[in-house]
Amino acid sequence: MAFAWGVSTSAYQIEGGVTVGGRGASIWDTFSHEPGRIRDGSTGDVACDHLHRYGDDVALMAGLGVSAYRFSVAWPRVQPDGTGPANPAGLAFYDRLVDALLEKGIDPVLTLFHWDLPQALEAGGGWLVRDTAYRFAEYAGLVAAALGDRIRLWITLNEPFIHTTLGYATGEHAPGHAHLFDALPAAHHQLLGHGLAVAALRDRGVAAVGITNNYTPVWPQGETEADLAAAAAYDALHNRFCTDPLFGRGYPDLGLDPRVVRDGDLEVVAAPLDALGVNYYNPTGIRAPASPESPLPFEIVPLTGYPTTDFGWPVVPDGLRELLVGLAGEYGDALPPIYVTESGCAYDGIDDPQRVAYLDGHIRAVRSAMAAGVDVRGYFVWSLLDNFEWAEGFTKRFGLVHVDFETRRRTPKTSYTWYRDVIRASR
Ligand code: FCB
Repeated sequence: MAFAWGVSTSAYQIEGGVTVGGRGASIWDTFSHEPGRIRDGSTGDVACDHLHRYGDDVALMAGLGVSAYRFSVAWPRVQPDGTGPANPAGLAFYDRLVDALLEKGIDPVLTLFHWDLPQALEAGGGWLVRDTAYRFAEYAGLVAAALGDRIRLWITLNEPFIHTTLGYATGEHAPGHAHLFDALPAAHHQLLGHGLAVAALRDRGVAAVGITNNYTPVWPQGETEADLAAAAAYDALHNRFCTDPLFGRGYPDLGLDPRVVRDGDLEVVAAPLDALGVNYYNPTGIRAPASPESPLPFEIVPLTGYPTTDFGWPVVPDGLRELLVGLAGEYGDALPPIYVTESGCAYDGIDDPQRVAYLDGHIRAVRSAMAAGVDVRGYFVWSLLDNFEWAEGFTKRFGLVHVDFETRRRTPKTSYTWYRDVIRASR
């Protein structure tokens, strides 16, 4: 199949319509309504109103010429309480969306979980409890029964490490728990849910299944043994914790209570995959913690000497080449084909030359990884639209298309036209 040029979004960040069609509440509805959680006090109640304007958004994608679109399904639209039979009105929305995409020749790439857990499951312990993994597999089966073979690629989870860290370890994201290393069971239960969902999807004969992780090249900032050990610890946590077990290596030793991982779990987690989704934003500088009392075995150090995005993230395109080549070297034949499922940057403005430069550099990095032999099958820009950027609310704009959050009017940016031309030229 030809290289997939795509764009990515996620349900809570764009859909709005949070009570439409019997959708239940998600942890992000609850969290965003708590005072002080979101930088600008906003919520995803309306967001880009994609639920009602998806036709316009599919037309924007058709104009862009993408061959694939990665979106996510809101679990509480399909199962308002996270359990029980499917809500037909919720599934009907995705049914219409998928048909609209196919009509334009755009392959749907569907993420089952992009962080919007049904609130009812959080009330029972969320990903900290094992039962949620079984609920997730049940939900996967319901979506597969409805959308089946119309989906080119199924992605079970989005960034389980980031969801665990920000949602359960530091509390910056929903559901807002600050358990530090005691958050690790939430990662295992997500990966167990992933493995069980892979089986449920295979049972329904879907085309292809993968998972998306967030990766960062870890750059030690300092040359002492303690700095190198800190970098190795961070690498084990960020890059390997949610990847090693997928490829049969079990978990790196970071203190996950062994009783959480039951007999047979690791075999379930290591179910064979057709794709690995890679999300990349920037490398991470790490050194040994300054204080021996630090609760963490590492300290994150801002990288200097690079341009930064509006998020303050350093722009290092070659980090994407480094990480793709590194993954191929590390996992070898065990690694399925890679899709870069997210790559993008936050910048204001409709004329956005910085985004053009950013994407140009990152697409070149993908090409050089491919030239070095890495099997990359697609590249998806984060994001089609400016959207609700989690704890940052509407203050960070990642879109190829500008959204006015008063009127919901869409305006393609300079980067939209540029990406359209890149896609055209590659044909
Ligand atoms: C990723 C998320 C995505 C978006 C980008 C900027 O970690 O998967 O939803 O917020 O960051």
